[in-house]
Formats: sequence, C-alpha cells, structure tokens
Amino acid sequence: MKKSDIVNLLLQEKESSLPSREKSMAFAPSNIALCKYWGKRDSELNLPMTSSLSVALPDKGAMTTLIVQDASSDTITVNNQQISEDSKFAKRTIEYLDLFRPQKNWHLNIEIKSDVPIAAGLASSACGFASLVSALNELFDWKLTHRQLSILARLGSGSAARSLWNGFVEWHAGMQPDGMDSFAEPLDVEWQSLCMGLLLVSEAEKPVSSREAMQCTVDSSIFYSLWPKKVNQDLALIKQALKTHNFSLLGGAAESNALAMHATMMSAWPPICYYLPETIAAMQKVWQMRKNGVEVYFTQDAGPNLKLIFLSDHKAIVKEQFPEMETVRLFD
Ligand code: PMV
Repeated sequence: MKKSDIVNLLLQEKESSLPSREKSMAFAPSNIALCKYWGKRDSELNLPMTSSLSVALPDKGAMTTLIVQDASSDTITVNNQQISEDSKFAKRTIEYLDLFRPQKNWHLNIEIKSDVPIAAGLASSACGFASLVSALNELFDWKLTHRQLSILARLGSGSAARSLWNGFVEWHAGMQPDGMDSFAEPLDVEWQSLCMGLLLVSEAEKPVSSREAMQCTVDSSIFYSLWPKKVNQDLALIKQALKTHNFSLLGGAAESNALAMHATMMSAWPPICYYLPETIAAMQKVWQMRKNGVEVYFTQDAGPNLKLIFLSDHKAIVKEQFPEMETVRLFD
C-alpha cells in the first residue's frame, strides 16, 4: 500500500479538493518519547513494530503558515530563512505536500517557525509534520478528527503521530496492513510536578537520520528481536507509574528504555552511535546524582542531546549541576 492510498481513503468523502481559504496556520508541540518508537513493520506507511508513549513540550514546537501562491514551485522558509529546493528538508516536505495537491501546478508558500533545532534529535520532524497537516486541514477545511490527523502526520514522520496533543500521548502500533489502527491518543493523566530539562550537547544536524538508523538496526542488530519485549514491559511500567504518580518507576523505565534502544543501534552493522563524549559525561553525572539521593533520570533520542527528567522539588539542585540545561514546561 502507498501513502497516497491512505490519503485517498481518508479524504474520499470530502466534497471539494480545492482549498477553502488562501491562508492557514497551525501549531504543534514537539514530543519526547518516554517509551520509544524504534523500528518499522512498514517503512512506506511508517507503521511501527511497537506502541510508544510520549510527553509533549507545549512551548517547544512548530508553527506552520501556508499561503496559496501563484508560482511554479513551493517556497519554504524556516525561521525566516529560505530553504533550498535541493535540501533534504525541502525534498521531504515537498514530497509530503504532493500527496495533497489538488492539481500538479498548485503551490504553496510554507513558513515554518520552529523552536527546536532541525534534525538534532529534538523531535523537529514530529512537530513539523503535525503542524503542517493541521494547517492543511484548516486550509482545505477537511474537518478531520485528531485521530485521522495523527494517521496523516505519521505518513510524514512516525513520531509526528504523537504531536497532535499536549500531555502524555500513546501511539498504538496497530496490526492492520493499511495502518488505519495505528494512531495516537492522549492519556487522561496530568503530572504538574514533573519536569523536563533539555541538555543540548550539540545542535548539529545528526550524521545518520533516525529513518536510516532504524532500518539498519532492524536489519542487522542481533538484539533487535528483544526490543518488542522490552517495550511491552516498559510501556506497562510507565502507564502504571503515570496512574500512581510513581516517579522512580517512571524515570527508571524511561531511562532503561532509551539505553536499550541505543544498545540495539550499537549492535547494528554498520554501528550507529549517537553518543558524544559530553553525552556520556552527562549520563555519569546523572548516575552519580542518583547515588547521592537526587532522583534525576534521562532519556535520549536519535541525537547526542539528553532530556533530564526530575520533579519540581529537585529543580534547583539539578539546575545547579547542569547550569546549561533549559527547563521546559510540560503542564500548566
Ligand atoms: O519519527 P522519526 O522517524 O523521527 O523517529 C523518531 C525516533 C525516536 O525519536 C528515536 C524515538 C521516538 O519515539 O520519538
């Protein structure tokens, strides 16, 4: 099945394929997985091998503005800078837009304002595609549900399926070949005292994309066959921790899940290692802090940066140990 088949399936009942306005805007938050999505069962439709669970960063995300333009191609600006049509970023965005164009010669001016550096393992593609599809929903007045938008966002980038909501979100792996049961849903849990800190080790674009890294891991790591089992365990622990506000359980399961994901990458061939010396130094500091009784944990995505997880009571001491850390809001 192709991406266009899914788009046709979801949009088949829409009266008109033409936009209902000239301009639209939408914001989507970035999300950080506490139980990771790693590996696809269908790489065309971005269908995951396992379910995953994330928390949104409501103040870090992407705002996408779409303006219909009378031109021979799309123009894309990111944070006021025009992006070359030949860049990886533009190609991926244009390919995604091709799925929705009413006519071949219909073009857009796409302005993206992103609070997160692009492709540095900070979920820039997740909030990017979720805000783009939400802006398209406005432009064409499709009136799609969040669940349907989650399916469409997934076609751009898997983790984008989780970027349609604030708070904790679970993306169900689903089983159907067309992926119509592979969408995310918000969880009815709030945790006001839960904090996250971004520890930027490097803002450079990652050398290996998460797409390539996942594929290589699934194809060559001997440990990958254990990954679904690990996710099932961690997902259950994290959900239990969220229900009971058990921070040690949450932090431990999230950190262990991220480490296991990176272990599958390092056992892949060619090996994939997103760690920089500074990443390891920060991890060791976190472990030392825990030994000293300060409960702080980390998670890490496909990049060298860490996200620290702690409770508001420990904010001052974590900040003292990591002065360069940026604390981000999770809840109001
Ligand atoms: O959505 P992608 O293809 O950028 O993959 C995201 C993969 C991780 O960030 C490492 C894990 C996750 O669940 O977000």
